[in-house]
Amino acid sequence: MKDYIIHHEWKIVEEGFEPELNRISESLFSIGNGKMGQRANFEERYSGETLNGTYVAGIYYPDKTRVGWWKNGYPEYFAKIINSTNWIGIRIKINGEELDLARVKVLSFARELDMQHGLLSRRFVAELKNGNQVEVSSHRFVSIAATEIGAIRYTVKALNFEGTIQVIPFLDADVVNEDSNYDEKFWTEVSRAVGGAEGYITVETLKTEFQVCTGMWFQLLKHGEKVDTKISNRNKEKYVEASQDVGVNVGDEIVVEKFSATVSSLYFEKEELVEKAKEVIDIAAEAGFDALFESHKNLWLSKWETSDIKIEGDVAAQQGIRFNIFQLNQTYTGEDERLNIGPKGFTGEKYGGVTYWDTEAYCLPFYLSTAPQTVAKNLLVYRHKHLQKAIENAEKLGFKNGAALYPMVTINGEECHNEWEITFEEVHRNGAIAYAIYDYVNYTGDKEYLAPTGFEVLLGISRFWSQRVNWSVAKQKYVMLGVTGPNEYENNVNNNFHTSYMAVWTLKYTLEVIEYLKIEYPFFYEELVQKWKFNELTETAHWQEIIDKMYFPRDEELGVYLQQDGFLDKDLTPVAELSEQDLPINQKWSWDRILRSPYIKQADTLQSLYLFQENFSIEDIKRHFDFYEPLTVHESSLSPCVHSILAAKIGYQEKSYEMYLRTARLDLDDYNNDTEDGLHITSMGGTWMSFVMAFGGMRVTNGKLTFNPFIPKSWLSYAFKINFGGAQLEVKKESGVFCIINHSGVKVPVTIWGTEHEIAGNTKMEFKR
Ligand code: BGC
Repeated sequence: MKDYIIHHEWKIVEEGFEPELNRISESLFSIGNGKMGQRANFEERYSGETLNGTYVAGIYYPDKTRVGWWKNGYPEYFAKIINSTNWIGIRIKINGEELDLARVKVLSFARELDMQHGLLSRRFVAELKNGNQVEVSSHRFVSIAATEIGAIRYTVKALNFEGTIQVIPFLDADVVNEDSNYDEKFWTEVSRAVGGAEGYITVETLKTEFQVCTGMWFQLLKHGEKVDTKISNRNKEKYVEASQDVGVNVGDEIVVEKFSATVSSLYFEKEELVEKAKEVIDIAAEAGFDALFESHKNLWLSKWETSDIKIEGDVAAQQGIRFNIFQLNQTYTGEDERLNIGPKGFTGEKYGGVTYWDTEAYCLPFYLSTAPQTVAKNLLVYRHKHLQKAIENAEKLGFKNGAALYPMVTINGEECHNEWEITFEEVHRNGAIAYAIYDYVNYTGDKEYLAPTGFEVLLGISRFWSQRVNWSVAKQKYVMLGVTGPNEYENNVNNNFHTSYMAVWTLKYTLEVIEYLKIEYPFFYEELVQKWKFNELTETAHWQEIIDKMYFPRDEELGVYLQQDGFLDKDLTPVAELSEQDLPINQKWSWDRILRSPYIKQADTLQSLYLFQENFSIEDIKRHFDFYEPLTVHESSLSPCVHSILAAKIGYQEKSYEMYLRTARLDLDDYNNDTEDGLHITSMGGTWMSFVMAFGGMRVTNGKLTFNPFIPKSWLSYAFKINFGGAQLEVKKESGVFCIINHSGVKVPVTIWGTEHEIAGNTKMEFKR
């Protein structure tokens, strides 16, 4: 836990230079635009502790799997979104001495991320060994309006000296990944060229053969005039630089404006990459920093228009929620269905930058409510495009007849995860992918999505569930053996309630979807039956039997479903009775001890109760919450949000707020001591969920919007925005009053605290309680 980020409503601010916090700040101040991202590394040389990170969406390296003991079915590789060409570099020499904050006296330092406009800034004053003092300010952004462009304005002021400042803008593709199984470099050079203020490098990933061309152009200004001293160039393998000298007197300020172009073979033919990069550089140079920033800023403002959450009366909370929203918006923009949301987004290497069930379970709701419908839809299309691979994945494990098992971790549909108890057994992820289809259709009303896209995925997943269960003669029920639930502190258990519940739910939903398709799209449905060799009669009869005869472990005396068979045999000492030294158990205890303990990493049984709240009474939810939450250590960042929502549902408002606080500032306060590796992007979707679904009590049931809002005691008011049913709604809560403003002409029926209302177009309605 750290507490060095200064609280501000719209900005992330750090003052003072603490080298030991630098890697954390590099993560926190990261910028991105959905197509590329950049950690907050320094432009000038820095020889201190740093994790250089420039990431290009969709460009990955299949790092050869490394495991202690190979198991059949393990994937050959783990896909990694890799560190790529450094485009931000501008070395600075002052009268011959290199500026390097690890080697000079830093007299003042401040870093700021303006989330409203998507701008990263830094100011510092440094004294070099030669006694020369400089004041530096830098501003940079990766444009969300022109996503291939990165822009930097870097200013150096000579505070107490005269002489020469040498500026050396460069591109460096000779980069490494901290996370590399065999210490390999992942890039080879294709071409490089440099002349005057312009340079280009094209590199190719080993094995996957993606190419990325990065271009740069700069200009040097003094007193607002372009400096026209000679530019000399240097280049070597995977590296190009330009270098220009400028004479300065005391008080003179020079400005370097550097633009970059990043284009990849994901979008262009390899042969035309350099040409495209040149076009982008020309556009950027022609427009200039201010005009580029203007269009970038305006797009950010319009993103905030639909996704902002305002909190009055608590600046730390305000900063926290905006930080989460900012990161979600700069990680995924939904224009390309081949892209997804890695748990670290563009802020670090951990987790490989690839897709987990996190996307469907924790991120989808944010994009559904705050972005155009296609953004959320593309997350679903991503999985549909991977259906064939999911079928192959299931085949590798012995399933047949089109059964689909989506991977635990993937970038292109192939499984990358390689721990048997998760790869083969944490199959509840399939349920999350099926549920996302329901979630999308329920929220948007876009039932057309079901034919054929949604249906095909549901069919594959249903076929998987129907083969994953088996009939237990002893129990006279269907059982599901050898699974791992979301709580990864239990492995290879039998009859995990959540997994079995998701299975039965998927089967039921698929049956519903089939009935719908038969009525609405009978001919099309017939084609799908042929295409998938779907023996409707026998297959659905089997599904129905599973639905009717599935076994769910339950203790009638306690009135709770059990996480898995045998859960009650454990020593059920609550977490509160553990000593401080025991926590977090994943760092303090042996794996063996964790597995035998009752402690729960993240919502497991409660995950089902959260998803299917309507199927349980408030009393039921309370009993389950009171039983499981005290045993939960919340050691996954995905845990507190679900608990916050359920706590609100059962009236535990303080608990709900406490859980919310654990997710909202998780990275800003480095709660888990791991922000230096990157941010917890997918859990930020969970933070948004807990705000809107816990405090706002928002839920969409049978396509209808409901709110059961409350406000945490220490806040004066909050307000959030959502798209729903073609309307733009602003929802506000202050003590005693709840208000909905409809900013569109479309009327929206809503249920508030159990009473139905209709919010007419362009009106504001207040509800008192
Ligand atoms: C969680 C998983 C999650 C993964 C990536 C793990 O710690 O237990 O549920 O998918 O992190 O965020």
